[in-house]
Order: sequence, then C-alpha cells, then structure tokens
Amino acid sequence: MHVYQPREDSFFMLEFLEKKLEKCEINTAIDVGSGSGILAEVLSSMTKHVVASDISRDAIRLLKEKRKKGSLPSNVSIVLGNFVDFIKEADIVVFNPPYLWRENGEKFDVTIHQNTPNGEDVLKKFAESLARLRRFCAAYLLISSYSVDEGLRATLNAHGMKWKLMERRRLFFEELKILEIKRDKNSESNKK
Ligand SMILES: C[S@@+](CC[C@H](N)C(=O)[O-])C[C@H]1O[C@@H](n2cnc3c(N)ncnc32)[C@H](O)[C@@H]1O
Repeated sequence: MHVYQPREDSFFMLEFLEKKLEKCEINTAIDVGSGSGILAEVLSSMTKHVVASDISRDAIRLLKEKRKKGSLPSNVSIVLGNFVDFIKEADIVVFNPPYLWRENGEKFDVTIHQNTPNGEDVLKKFAESLARLRRFCAAYLLISSYSVDEGLRATLNAHGMKWKLMERRRLFFEELKILEIKRDKNSESNKK
C-alpha cells in the first residue's frame, strides 16, 4: 500500500488546527486527501462529524483497516472521492495537498505531485471544487515554497473567494504556509 507518511507539513497543519479550532463549534469538517487519517483523527475530537476523503484507493484501504481495528473514531466517515465533489456543504474543509512539481518523464505519485499526468493542477482543481460547494465557512490549505500557486490564486479570484495567510513555518529547506480561504461577500460574483 502506498500512502503518504505524515511529515513536517502534516504536523504543521495538525498543530494549527488544534489551536485554531479549539473553541469553535463545528458540525462537519472535510479532510481532503486524508492519507493515513492523521488530520481526520485530530478533527474528530473538535467536530461532530468528519469526512476523511481521498482519491487514492490505497489511502481508503488503510483508513478502512484502521476502522476495523477500532483506531479510527466513530464520527469519521470514509469517502473515496475527488476533492469536495461528493458533498454539497461543509463548515470546515482542510487540505494538505501534494505540492512537488513533477518533471517530464518522472513517474506520477498522487501523494506528492501537484501536476497530474493529464496536465491538471491539483491546487487549481481544488479551488474549482471548493467554488462548487453551496456553502462552506472556511477552508484551510497548506502550501509550500515549492507549490506553484498562480493557478490557485487566479481561480480563487475568478470565483469570488479571498484568502488570508494564517501561519508560516520556515524549515531549513522550504517554507510552509497555511491559508484560510473564504467566500468574499464583497465580490460581484457572490452578490448575484
Ligand atoms: C501530502 S498528502 C497528505 C496526506 C495527509 N493529509 C497527511 O497530512 O499525512 C496529499 C494527499 O492528497 C491526496 N490527493 C491527491 N489528489 C487528490 C484529489 N484530487 N482528491 C482527493 N485527494 C487527493 C493524496 O492521495 C494524498 O493522500
């Protein structure tokens, strides 16, 4: 089974969520690209219901094994799916995406590569999927100094969403940032 082993980016997001959501009342949180479920597990103690979703069948298999062994809390549902395409609304969406740019000829790895073999940009596609939700309060997205984020920014702008830098962490080889994304009530596209 090939599933992302939690690393610095996972732990940074985890610590951020513990601080940020501590006093919030949240019904539904979606952990997009849940991998081993590390973020879904921490979210489960702060929210009524968590959806741990991933496009990778290996990740879903691992999560189901954890469920069988009783190590995944009972308020976590497991969904095989693309971004948030399987749901209409959520309070919180969390995504710690793949962010390395795959070079020509390099074998595609869904757990780390931002550009897919059919030329799609994962960050841009995530923003498009988010825009289709009927309602969400906030999305927390991790990006790295390795992420290519032009497509993300253009798509958020085009769909009337704004973003704010919430936290940054300098590692010796890269910088990690957590963005909060919300619908911009002042945007023309949300006034209609
Ligand atoms: C960097 S890993 C993070 C895994 C986990 N959240 C963690 O912190 O350990 C990114 C995850 O996103 C998943 N992913 C990639 N593209 C996706 C998509 N289109 N929809 C849902 N999940 C996706 C990958 O399979 C992988 O599990």
